[in-house]
Amino acid sequence: MILLGLILLSLLQYNSVDADGTVPDQVHISFTGDMTEMAVTWNTFEPASQYVVYKKVGTAIQATAFESSEKWVYGGITRYRHTATMTKLEYATEYEYNIAGRSFTFKTLPKDPQSYKVCVFGDLGYWHGNSTESIIKHGLAGDFDFIVHLGDIAYDLHTDNGRVGDNYLNTFEPLISKIPYMVIAGNHEDDLQNFTNYQKRFSVPRNGHNDNQFYSFDLGPVHWVGVSTENYGYYYSYGMQPVLTQYDWLKKDLAAANANRAARPWIFTFQHRPFYCSNLNSAECQSFENRLIVGLKCAAFPQQARTKSRGAGSRPSRDLDLDTTVSIYVRFVWKFWTLTVN
Ligand SMILES: *[C@@H]1O[C@H](CO)[C@@H](O)[C@H](O)[C@H]1NC(C)=O
Ligand SMILES: *[C@@H]1O[C@H](CO)[C@@H](O)[C@H](O)[C@H]1NC(C)=O
Repeated sequence: MILLGLILLSLLQYNSVDADGTVPDQVHISFTGDMTEMAVTWNTFEPASQYVVYKKVGTAIQATAFESSEKWVYGGITRYRHTATMTKLEYATEYEYNIAGRSFTFKTLPKDPQSYKVCVFGDLGYWHGNSTESIIKHGLAGDFDFIVHLGDIAYDLHTDNGRVGDNYLNTFEPLISKIPYMVIAGNHEDDLQNFTNYQKRFSVPRNGHNDNQFYSFDLGPVHWVGVSTENYGYYYSYGMQPVLTQYDWLKKDLAAANANRAARPWIFTFQHRPFYCSNLNSAECQSFENRLIVGLKCAAFPQQARTKSRGAGSRPSRDLDLDTTVSIYVRFVWKFWTLTVN
């Protein structure tokens, strides 16, 4: 009885917060590839026509970013994904933005920054969330400028009909509504519906296949490239076409970046699985899916013979070749790593 009373009370409290399912939740921001823009993505459980009102902190002139929204269904739960892009932002400027009565702030980076910090981690969830508190604390303290999450998000985004993904994004909302959150899919993002939860919950630069599986963006001295290693692991479920599409795109993207080395000397790729294994975690490195990504590795690292590898055990491993191409992956580390570019 007491238990029932408590459950009813918590349902009532929940309902009073979001009685009609239109309160925006899971609010997060991400780069679009144009550093005078910022994408905002959020969720509602009922249809709602919402928009983002934003302005420089301390000023009165407001701008409005209209959203596009899309209904998606997983495990019998209907969600509405909303996304809007704030444009014409000034560099190194603090903005505040408001969505249906909820307010957030973020700060843009300086123009063409030659020095910045990135928080890199993989395999972090609502479960296995050992570093969550520390990441949020350091991020809010301004210890890094954006986040790269190398797959295996939430454990899993789709678990419990997607409620684990909702909880995960709400837990991180205080940070990722403020600091751009850049993601790439890991094997745990396969939700038996062709990565639907991953596709619908995030926004990334649209220069890949216009989905979230691969993309690139430039920031200061680095051309960043996110690729899916899971197109390989799941080809038997979803076909070879995603592998071929990504491979063709990657060759062109890297050729263009390579021709631009004078302006942007570094290329960083990031993906869920390692291209090279330089640590003792050999079972992980020799798994069937890991061996499939050899084509991807050759596109990114044509001069394999000159590659030096570092890293051991559960520390992040880093593979660096003499052409200043770096491949970043982190697996099975419930710790995060701050990468300083300068
Ligand atoms: C991290 O959390 C997992 C459970 O989610 C636990 O098995 C593991 O021991 C924890 N690791 C550390 C270093 O606390
Ligand atoms: C899975 O999604 C990709 C886009 O990310 C698409 O190219 C592919 O055709 C889809 N496969 C299936 C079986 O739906």
